[in-house]
Amino acid sequence: MNSDSAVNCIGIILAGGTGSRLYPCTTVTNKHLLPIGEMPMIFYPIKKLVAAGITDILIVTGTEHMGDFISLLGSGKDFGCALTYRVQDEAGGIAQALALAERFAGGQPMCVMLGDNIFESSIAPLIEQFTREPDSAHILLKEVPDAERFGVAELEPGTMRVKHIIEKPEVPPSNYAVTGVYCYPPDVFSIIRTLTPSGRGELEITDVNNSYLESGRLRASIVDGYWSDAGTFPSLARANELVRQSAPHY
Ligand code: DAU
Repeated sequence: MNSDSAVNCIGIILAGGTGSRLYPCTTVTNKHLLPIGEMPMIFYPIKKLVAAGITDILIVTGTEHMGDFISLLGSGKDFGCALTYRVQDEAGGIAQALALAERFAGGQPMCVMLGDNIFESSIAPLIEQFTREPDSAHILLKEVPDAERFGVAELEPGTMRVKHIIEKPEVPPSNYAVTGVYCYPPDVFSIIRTLTPSGRGELEITDVNNSYLESGRLRASIVDGYWSDAGTFPSLARANELVRQSAPHY
């Protein structure tokens, strides 16, 4: 399944969800088809994965706009990758969307990207770290002024060691947000099977990461360059501005 990939890791882009924080712009289209700079949002995670040598990629999205994704992206040949598609019937959370990738993964390690996350830096260093320690999950953190909007790392006092991750805490224990790129060993699917829905009715990726932490198998590092999500009007505007200022990189 992964014979064309330059590195031994598959890519998974999660592009489902309701996009409700961007209504009415997402009433008849999907958030990841909205523009950032001069490209649809979904182009960015595809290009990041391909640039890191990951060319076998699954895209998960909802029923309503799957046809639009296929019309826009096709087989992936214009991006230098092979795209496969999987439908998430209902927006049951990031971990639920990831669970749909189990058959595609076929026991291989994976790099998962949230479709609304825009990174300036290459993710190649993350993949290299993962390759060196493939039995652990690897995540990237970024210091932000509005940590309460994200999964937030609680750190061991005086260190950068992650003690626990809290999803959207009212009072963030640090300013380090968990960004939307995650590398997982194939046992991530058995961890997802143990999860129960959170207060917001979703299977949370933060619970997956805490499970790796509890077994001493979570590695976190800080990502260089800018990072933004694009799921709210202010963050969508910010992502556009950051990309506009750095357009030559793309
Ligand atoms: O952006 C990073 C943050 O993303 C992390 O810090 C949080 O820990 C993580 O939970 C997530 O937070 P959000 O609440 O902002 O995630 P959101 O619901 O916007 O979903 C992010 C992407 O995941 C979205 O662009 C599409 C995909 N997704 C989401 C859901 C809920 C799916 O594919 N299916 C889903 O059911």
